[in-house]
Amino acid sequence: MSAGLHLVTGGSGFIGAALVRELLGRGHAVRVLDDHSRGRPARLADLVDAGRIELVQGDVRDAAAVDTATRGCEVVWHLAYINGTRFFYEKPDAVLEVGIKGTMNTLDAALAHGVRRYVLASTSETYNTPTHVPTTEAERLMIPDVRNPRFSYGGGKIAAELMTLHIGGRRGLSTVIFRPHNIYGPDMGFEHVIPEIVERIVAVSEGLTRKHIRLPIQGDGTETRAFCYIDDGARGAAIAGLSGGDGEIYHLGTNRETSIGDLVRGLGRALGVEIELEPGPLQVGGTHRRCPDITKLSGLGYHPEVPLEEGLARSARWYAEHFLAKRAAHG
Ligand SMILES: NC(=O)c1ccc[n+]([C@@H]2O[C@H](COP(=O)([O-])OP(=O)(O)OC[C@H]3O[C@@H](n4cnc5c(N)ncnc54)[C@H](O)[C@@H]3O)[C@@H](O)[C@H]2O)c1
Repeated sequence: MSAGLHLVTGGSGFIGAALVRELLGRGHAVRVLDDHSRGRPARLADLVDAGRIELVQGDVRDAAAVDTATRGCEVVWHLAYINGTRFFYEKPDAVLEVGIKGTMNTLDAALAHGVRRYVLASTSETYNTPTHVPTTEAERLMIPDVRNPRFSYGGGKIAAELMTLHIGGRRGLSTVIFRPHNIYGPDMGFEHVIPEIVERIVAVSEGLTRKHIRLPIQGDGTETRAFCYIDDGARGAAIAGLSGGDGEIYHLGTNRETSIGDLVRGLGRALGVEIELEPGPLQVGGTHRRCPDITKLSGLGYHPEVPLEEGLARSARWYAEHFLAKRAAHG
């Protein structure tokens, strides 16, 4: 693929900012469109200062802003979306509006400006409860209850996938979809299990001499996920988008299934704290097991490299420092 201009929507977000660096490293020119509602321009400040990227502030619901940002681009990476479980319950209307209008506007602009390839970030949430684990890309997509606002997120992504393939693809775009599975790392935002657990470990263990604590968790700790470190996530996204087949869908993640109990204890270990779990009720709408089969993306040369222990240690340290600094600032 030639080194043309790539538009990354959601580029000041967690995955977007890492993808921007990955694309630059591969010799591509990058423009970012983000409203910074959850993203932070500071993530890209060094690149903007060095004149290495264009950073455009705008809302993907605004067709004119998307149209202008897409001019001259060869590839569009559509990542902008409202992430964070809390928001699915608090503002499902906005989640769906950003999901549907954002996808339609980016597809329309890509078609209008002769973009060659359109890459959509979808999600593992499109499976809700998968029928098979490890799950392949052939798994059926579903939402179990249209009345539950939680499914605004997965439902919006299912619609975005359909639109990508059957509007963008049908009208002439080369399309690729990747479905991230639990990408994590330092600075991943705060509405995620890892920062929430680190914050509680820091709060409960501060000042204790014997670092052994009991920690309440959602569920009994046997629920599983496969956690993929951000450097691997960004590299995998780039590989899927740049080398993936037309109209194809790729899992992005690792195939190491980890229980939430082990995750919590691992975060504790990284902070020198021994943790005893206190099981609690599980949120409705979650699934017991999730782990992707990543054979398809591996076929393009993707292999996750950062071991879970190392990734957790880096993330735990980053968040612990952040929470302690925040506390110090507030006296
Ligand atoms: N992090 C994960 O593990 C994960 C898992 C599955 C799917 N995804 C998907 O990957 C993509 C990136 O996720 P992330 O973890 O980096 O989340 P993030 O919240 O850090 O990034 C999303 C970005 O979109 C921007 N955005 C939101 N609404 C916008 C709007 N109306 N106009 C312009 N920009 C807007 C936000 O400001 C943010 O920078 C999203 O599409 C998300 O659904 C992520």
